[in-house]
Amino acid sequence: MSKDKFDLTGKIALVTGAGAGGGLGHAMAVGLAGAGADVVVSDIDTDGAATTSQEIQSLGRRSIAITCDNSQRDEIFAMFEEIDKAFGRIDILINNVGAGARYRPEELPFEEWQRVLDISLSSSFVCAVQAGKRMIAQRTGGSIINISSIAGSHALGRGNLPHSVAKSGVNQMTRELATEWGPHGIRVNAIQPATIRTPSWNSIADTLDWDFEGWQRHLLLGIPLGRLGEPDDLVGPAIFLASDAAAFVTGHLLAVDGGNLAMDAGGSIQWPALRKDR
Ligand SMILES: NC(=O)c1ccc[n+]([C@@H]2O[C@H](COP(=O)([O-])OP(=O)(O)OC[C@H]3O[C@@H](n4cnc5c(N)ncnc54)[C@H](O)[C@@H]3O)[C@@H](O)[C@H]2O)c1
Repeated sequence: MSKDKFDLTGKIALVTGAGAGGGLGHAMAVGLAGAGADVVVSDIDTDGAATTSQEIQSLGRRSIAITCDNSQRDEIFAMFEEIDKAFGRIDILINNVGAGARYRPEELPFEEWQRVLDISLSSSFVCAVQAGKRMIAQRTGGSIINISSIAGSHALGRGNLPHSVAKSGVNQMTRELATEWGPHGIRVNAIQPATIRTPSWNSIADTLDWDFEGWQRHLLLGIPLGRLGEPDDLVGPAIFLASDAAAFVTGHLLAVDGGNLAMDAGGSIQWPALRKDR
């Protein structure tokens, strides 16, 4: 197969949550640009989005930054109108924004349940429909990539209930949209990462009362490849799913997890140990 199958030149992509302060979205946005795409960078963080966008422009690609709070439908609608004005089309959507909340189920406030479902699931649906409508009208197909999690397929325990439920919804939304939109040539796939060492993951060490190092060692026991992920690990899979190399791939949930799902995702009824020094 020719290497050109991975070429995204001429494609317009939107990556949500792609601000430079984030992790996976930033890596995938710059990665798509490296493969030739022009990339719309959106984030609730205006400065972070602008920084990623400048990085993409310095690669010689077109890019705009849009400030958008994905929990607000009106802001998503406005974002797509801005994309219409700037580029007049959309070929690739990466639904990357997600939220988490860590509570024991019996202590989980309903508002937190709702917030996580809104940001991780409903906002991805709203973005997918906005992109899908345009792709259908363009009659050129497209690729939608939903960033799910290994938590969408296996229970993780230790306070992940709303995250896990939202991501299982993302998985099923991926299959349903792939089925509905296949006849329009729109491919819809999901990526299921295991723990990736993003800035927010690294900052957990300072915010939780857990033995963080011990916890990382526990996670590694479930990862055959013997390491946690890095944001760059998402880039190749994202380019593949966005490109013609994956022309016959839709409705697929692609684990990017070092083998974690193959070993049952490392869920447990045990919470991390508390730090002795707190
Ligand atoms: N990091 C991991 O270990 C991991 C594992 C599995 C799945 N995921 C999923 O990958 C995706 C990205 O994760 P990450 O760790 O890079 O996240 P992150 O928290 O580091 O960054 C996400 C970005 O989204 C932005 N954002 C947050 N709320 C927003 C909102 N309401 N509207 C718009 N932008 C908003 C942030 O400003 C940030 O730039 C999420 O969907 C997450 O659930 C992450």
